[in-house]
Amino acid sequence: MYGVIEKIVNHRESVTVEELAWVIKNNELNERLFAVADEVRQKYLGREVYLRGIIEFSNYCKNDCLYCGIRASNKKIKRYRMSVDEIVERAKLIAQMGIKTVVLQSGEDPYYTKEMISEMIQMIKRFKVAITLSVGERSFDEYKCWKELKADRYLMRHETADEELYKRLHPNDSFENRKEHLFKLKELGYETGAGSMVGLPGQDELSLAKDILFVYQLDADMVGIGPFIPHQDTPLANCKAGDLTETLKVIALTRLFLPDANIPATTALGTIDPFGRQLALKCGANVIMPNFTPSPYRAQYTLYPNKICIFENDLACGECTKNLVRSVGYKVSNDFGYRRKRHEHFTCGL
Ligand code: 5AD
Ligand code: FES
Repeated sequence: MYGVIEKIVNHRESVTVEELAWVIKNNELNERLFAVADEVRQKYLGREVYLRGIIEFSNYCKNDCLYCGIRASNKKIKRYRMSVDEIVERAKLIAQMGIKTVVLQSGEDPYYTKEMISEMIQMIKRFKVAITLSVGERSFDEYKCWKELKADRYLMRHETADEELYKRLHPNDSFENRKEHLFKLKELGYETGAGSMVGLPGQDELSLAKDILFVYQLDADMVGIGPFIPHQDTPLANCKAGDLTETLKVIALTRLFLPDANIPATTALGTIDPFGRQLALKCGANVIMPNFTPSPYRAQYTLYPNKICIFENDLACGECTKNLVRSVGYKVSNDFGYRRKRHEHFTCGL
């Protein structure tokens, strides 16, 4: 199988799901994979890392995803909702710190109407920042309206491209439906983010390979990949967490398939390993998402346990992530960080 990495770089359209699964299962190519992913990332995106300030504005959720700590059935967590004014105020702080993207994330919470989210977009756009929405599945009409109001991006992970596993984890949804929403977002002109968890119970190498081929098929502009971390108050409490190296491999392979996509070094990676985010930046990731959720809410947005940054001052993550980026030899970008244009011809000296 030596040569499979070269094949991915130079002929990615002809790579099979079995070949990809082989790379994920076997570890002998790891170092080469990580080095080539870093090379591709540098060729397309240089040494720049984009910061995206995230505000987790509500932990109410009408869904019941088996893995997630804020699922509707979890009666143990304290729920919160930020007001539109509180959210806009926080976005202003992000802009004042020179961060050019505000990510608005919440559980699937219909309390926030189309009009309320429209109002947030219009007010936050005055700060001259890009806006990423991450509020789950909504109506196509809402997506369209928010795009017309100049929301730039929409994040909605596909979670897993293994259809059976998707069904088991999401009692009221299907992968087919999630796919339809993601393609709709692309069609409406959003920079569209998908992504998945690594190490879900019942997931195998073939499932992970499908995740990579799916984001390639979607031509995702952003791909968020993090380890699954079991939450004590969910049905998956006793399952084991995703593995650091396996997660890094999925990130590196995703970089080879989407050389110019924006790929974050996720907070979940930083949670399972103190150097998880740094390692991700060195094998393909080029984005980091400092947390700007104000206290006391921040500690209540517990998708998974032991999330980092909970005990920090609630403005500390901006500086902390900048230092982290520099510590691995990369540069903090002042740019908005829209996806770069695709280069027509690229072979990375292989
Ligand atoms: N472990 C890791 N990631 C999780 N997410 C939700 N629950 C967990 C968990 N237990 C991820 C999902 C979701 C994103 C916001 O957080 O992929 O899309
Ligand atoms: Fe939040 Fe370091 S990124 S404290």
